[in-house]
Amino acid sequence: MATIEVKNLSKSYEYYKKERGLFGSFKSFLFREKLYAEAVKEISFSINEGELVGFLGPNGAGKTTTLKMLSGILYPTAGEVKVLGFTPSKREKAYQKQFALVMGQKNQLLRDLPAIETFVLNKEIYEMPDDEFKRNLDELIELFEIKDILDIQVRKLSLGQRMKCELVAALLHKPKVLFLDEPTIGLDVVAQKKIRDFIKKYNQEKKTAIILTSHYMEDIRELCRRVIIINLGKIIYDGNLEDLIRKYAPHKVLTVTFNEGGASREQIEKYGEIAEYNPYGCVIKTPRSEAKNTAVALLSSDLPVDDILIDEVEIDDVVRQIFNR
Ligand SMILES: Nc1ncnc2c1ncn2[C@@H]1O[C@H](COP(=O)(O)OP(=O)(O)OP(=O)(O)O)[C@@H](O)[C@H]1O
Ligand SMILES: [Mg+2]
Repeated sequence: MATIEVKNLSKSYEYYKKERGLFGSFKSFLFREKLYAEAVKEISFSINEGELVGFLGPNGAGKTTTLKMLSGILYPTAGEVKVLGFTPSKREKAYQKQFALVMGQKNQLLRDLPAIETFVLNKEIYEMPDDEFKRNLDELIELFEIKDILDIQVRKLSLGQRMKCELVAALLHKPKVLFLDEPTIGLDVVAQKKIRDFIKKYNQEKKTAIILTSHYMEDIRELCRRVIIINLGKIIYDGNLEDLIRKYAPHKVLTVTFNEGGASREQIEKYGEIAEYNPYGCVIKTPRSEAKNTAVALLSSDLPVDDILIDEVEIDDVVRQIFNR
């Protein structure tokens, strides 16, 4: 049996329309027009033990809604969810002890207390024996290198430090299934890398099934072999990431800035397809395998190159391309 099994899962939110202004408030008080937002529409997928799957899609696609249903926070409108054999919406204690949901945009840690206090609180919530708690905590403290920040009030920590502590809090009880909703959002590249390394290691060592959402292609490329892409509540791709990239993102993007004097279109054209141009900076698309060579060629040319950045195509661009076909 798969670890996560989702069948024809749907969620529509009910909400009420409110018109602007005082009169609008008054009117909607007397007569409320009920509206529905279909956030997730009949999605199906299954995920096995130890799989680390990227869950991608543009803003409002339905990712968080899906993860909330998998966690039992939201009740599905229709369809079925089974995680480790449990039905999440029943909110059984036995299930609570086996999964964790980490949201980059929302904190679990208590802001006015040091992180260690939340860890101890979680020990009680998850009914962990002393020795098990200590063993897990020590391991995570070392893995994340957070020994020196344990006793500092959470609100005084940097974003990256706080995110590490958030993950530790979520992992203390050794969940078998992990839902990570944008765990790297807003972090600088160094902190992002650390979080990624950690996720990778945790997945490999513990054979945890992980669903990861992120808007950063870098996260996905480094961590996920399989991706599920959702748009407007529907799954539009479920499969191998490499195939997807070969098909929809065969190029990388070079952003080149020039010093005084700039460069003309004609001078740049031979280096690749020009996606954006002005004399002092341009964006060039080059085949994936040639990105580095093109950068070197540009640097050793006569052009007054000031800086070059090599980037992945953004996830949202890939989604747009799939959707357009
Ligand atoms: N409480 C709510 N009431 C009404 N509509 C909602 C509610 N929460 C979300 N929605 C709508 O459901 C849709 C899916 O939202 P969801 O948060 O799942 O998207 P997402 O894929 O996580 O997006 P993002 O990348 O921006 O986090 C959106 O159209 C959103 O406006
Ligand atoms: Mg979201």
